[in-house]
Amino acid sequence: MEVVVTKPAARAAVEAARFATKTVGIVPTMGYLHEGHLSLARQARTEDDFVVLTIFVNPTQFGPSEDLARYPRDLERDLTLCREAGVDLVFSPSNEEMYGPDFATWVTVEGLTEGLCGQARPTHFRGVTTVVSKLFGICRAHRAYFGQKDAQQAFVIRRMTEDLDLGVEIVVCPTVREPDGLAMSSRNVNLSPEARVQAPALYRALQVAEQMVRAGERDAARVRAAVEEFISIQAPLGRIDYVEIADTRLIRPIARLEGQVLVALAVFFGDTRLIDNVILQVS
Ligand code: PAJ
Repeated sequence: MEVVVTKPAARAAVEAARFATKTVGIVPTMGYLHEGHLSLARQARTEDDFVVLTIFVNPTQFGPSEDLARYPRDLERDLTLCREAGVDLVFSPSNEEMYGPDFATWVTVEGLTEGLCGQARPTHFRGVTTVVSKLFGICRAHRAYFGQKDAQQAFVIRRMTEDLDLGVEIVVCPTVREPDGLAMSSRNVNLSPEARVQAPALYRALQVAEQMVRAGERDAARVRAAVEEFISIQAPLGRIDYVEIADTRLIRPIARLEGQVLVALAVFFGDTRLIDNVILQVS
């Protein structure tokens, strides 16, 4: 496994793979890897000849009052996990390498980025789409792998890739969970022991929504209210940022459930914001 920290070195390694007619898969991450990230790398390993995993805690996607400074990092451990997962190339640039002093260009996806996480984090998706565009430009992959855990992010990146004709196939992989249902996240280590005990209630609340829909409920307000009530009872340490039901095309809140719907939530435990979602097919 090769580890590079500069853009030219990353570009050269990917170009060499392409020259050898290998297909290239990219897994963008912010590091502190867990099974969720590794599931993406393993999926890439099954589909592509050359697997690139990028590790970059992207400052432009964090708001001024967010947890950039205490975002967990452990590069040595990450590299060991990448080796075990069969990654070929790790690109782990510095902030200076990614954002030069004259940096002035942003990629913005409209509409889809305004609701859900975009409401509380108005500059977040602009940071994500900009850095992912840059990573696609540096590492010219055939396929890029993202997790459903960040469903809105995956939909936004797919929209961007299609709208800008970036020529990368976006593959979205299922959410990997702890045995108690909590979606794996690098941020879970920041939870207090008490919050960690309550946090699995988020997924159970989403399952309540799923059961209601399966039982015939089609009114979004009623489903949302049930999810919120479940969380307030089962996870009293949690502070709900949003519980939202949206369509999966424009990520806009819907009143009646039909077709493919995204049930998504964000809940703070102290300063740690957790997100989770399920996608339901409503007949
Ligand atoms: P990060 O939070 O490190 O996540 C990297 C990738 O792993 C994302 O595609 C995310 O959806 C996926 N992932 C995280 N937890 C997962 C889980 N439990 N199950 C399945 N997949 C999971 O998302 C980012 O970084 C950044 O925004 C990034 C795209 C790298 C741009 O900076």
